[in-house]
Amino acid sequence: MQIPRLHPDTIEEIRNRADIVDVVSEYVVLRKRGKDFVGLCPFHDEKSPSFTVSPGKQIYFCFGCQAAGNAITFLKNLQKRSFTEVVVDLARRYQISVQTLEPEQRQELQRQLSLREQLYEVLASCAQFYQHALRQPQGHPALEYLQSNRKLGEETIQQFALGYAPAGWETVYRYLVEDKRYPVQLVEKAGLIKQRKEGSGYYDVFRSRLMIPIHDSMGRTIAFGGRTLTDEQPKYLNSPETELFNKGKTLFALDKAKTGISQQDQAVVVEGYFDAIALHAVGINNAIASLGTALSLDQVKLILRYSESKQLVLNFDADKAGTNAAERAIGEIAQLAYTGEVQLKILNIPSGKDADEYLHSHTPEDYRQLLVKAPLWLDWQIQQITKNRDLKQATDFQYVSQQIVKLLKNINNIDTRDYYIDRCAEILSFGDDRLKPLRVENLLTQIAPASSYSKPVSSKGNRESKSKNYPDPLQNKDRSLLELAEALLLRIYLHCPEQRKAITEALDERDLQFSLSHHRFLWQEILGISASGSVVDLIPTLQDRLIEFPEESGLSHLFYLSEKMQKEILRTPQVIQVTTACIEKALRERRYRHFRELWEQTDPETEPELYQSYYQAFYAEKQWLQELDKQRLFSITDLL
Ligand code: UTP
Ligand code: MN
Repeated sequence: MQIPRLHPDTIEEIRNRADIVDVVSEYVVLRKRGKDFVGLCPFHDEKSPSFTVSPGKQIYFCFGCQAAGNAITFLKNLQKRSFTEVVVDLARRYQISVQTLEPEQRQELQRQLSLREQLYEVLASCAQFYQHALRQPQGHPALEYLQSNRKLGEETIQQFALGYAPAGWETVYRYLVEDKRYPVQLVEKAGLIKQRKEGSGYYDVFRSRLMIPIHDSMGRTIAFGGRTLTDEQPKYLNSPETELFNKGKTLFALDKAKTGISQQDQAVVVEGYFDAIALHAVGINNAIASLGTALSLDQVKLILRYSESKQLVLNFDADKAGTNAAERAIGEIAQLAYTGEVQLKILNIPSGKDADEYLHSHTPEDYRQLLVKAPLWLDWQIQQITKNRDLKQATDFQYVSQQIVKLLKNINNIDTRDYYIDRCAEILSFGDDRLKPLRVENLLTQIAPASSYSKPVSSKGNRESKSKNYPDPLQNKDRSLLELAEALLLRIYLHCPEQRKAITEALDERDLQFSLSHHRFLWQEILGISASGSVVDLIPTLQDRLIEFPEESGLSHLFYLSEKMQKEILRTPQVIQVTTACIEKALRERRYRHFRELWEQTDPETEPELYQSYYQAFYAEKQWLQELDKQRLFSITDLL
């Protein structure tokens, strides 16, 4: 096909008229930043906006993927269409007449407009035909149905361009092919007629149906849904997939809802054509319909372009939907919800009505209230899991906790997960606050078996696996750190008499002991000498005492101070703090393991109170440990 050569004047005029911000904002939510606008780049996946549009220079560019160009290149790259197609499209939009290089090529151009352009035209023409037919005597029952059954006013019928496909087999065929002279293959490609299987000729796809045109986001007719007015099956007949219509990438009423979605920063997705129509009719103008299939990722992305904070309310039929049906309806967007890329809420209308039915007996304000109260998807799922379950019954409890663990495992946003762990623990403790820490711990171990102070739940009595899970923390690095900390503290005690009181207090306050036996031995000697009450020189006295204990020769280095040590020791308040924290940590780790082991060896059925008290003991230690980890502002090694 020869491409018509557009007149440079036409191209120039379009360059001048097509505003970059105008063009881009059809596809990207733009925010003003200084002289420019920014948004999420449509050419690559990104979470923070690096796509910039400059109205001054009439260009766009992306810091993320280096995409750049003007309004024409933008459409060309985004829609993957030719330069000429884009220019002609823009010409139509800005009502600029298209000149070709040679005047005689004009007609040629009309004929050679891309297939898509011609399909748009055929479909628009067909929509007009259906609208006209609705006002004819043959369309009267359909009009009556819209007014009486659906309670729709003239304005809504016009806004949605509703129509009627007459009863004959060839009415549309005759109108479009014979009267309007569109090529028969073109009308067939538009999905409006089909070739007869026997004999020759074509017949209309839609016959005696109420016609609902489906528009793309720019408002062009791309397909139809036709509802029967009788019991005929299917209830809705939809256009086949065509060059223009891809069901999985289309949302009904998006063209009418996009402004509302931006303004309210939220989109409402309903299932049926008439649900969307009914909502718009009462002024809830951010509603779109999913065409009865699971929402695809493409569809959601299309919607979220218009909502800055990515809020989506899914209003689907509660009756049809068990949790499985809901998950099917949510389809691929579940992942986006778990990562926090979309704020998904679920609205189930009470008594299983759809939005259209609900509005027949309720006010728009009632529906708005339902929107406000709609639970987030995760909360909704928890509701579904716990619905009609009695947590005091063992089987129900087991079922619910299993389902909850499954759910929590899916959440990959850490903050969200922490929040829901807490919530679920609350639910699983059915109002008994004392049980909550136990539930939190259980959930944590089941979700993340490898986390630092938790271990996988092992079957009772399986001691071997237990000991494997509990390496002695006083091995290796931990032990030498503890050695350093304890030695340092003892050294300060020995060489800085003015710090002795502070050290004794720090140890007593938290009931700390030295963990390493030789240090413990020295400390006892010190206490013994102090207790004797006589004022003595501590170091020589200790040295004398130690002569009796040759196996403790490893302590003698504590009695001397290197020059470096002398300086370090001047920072004693800090050093006391860090060293005692270090000692406390070792102690609490030991206690934690001890109580945990006791807890695991206790049968909750026969000794519930003991079980509970061991639990509380080790849980308290664990919380102390976490607190200590947070408090240790610098490590002991920095001091040495
Ligand atoms: P529903 O069957 O749930 O009913 O279809 P509805 O929308 O409430 O229908 P009304 O109120 O009786 O008119 C939900 C949507 O599923 C698609 C349509 O988009 C419909 O609006 N659908 C349903 C079909 O495409 N074909 C069908 O045969 C049925
Ligand atoms: Mn309905």
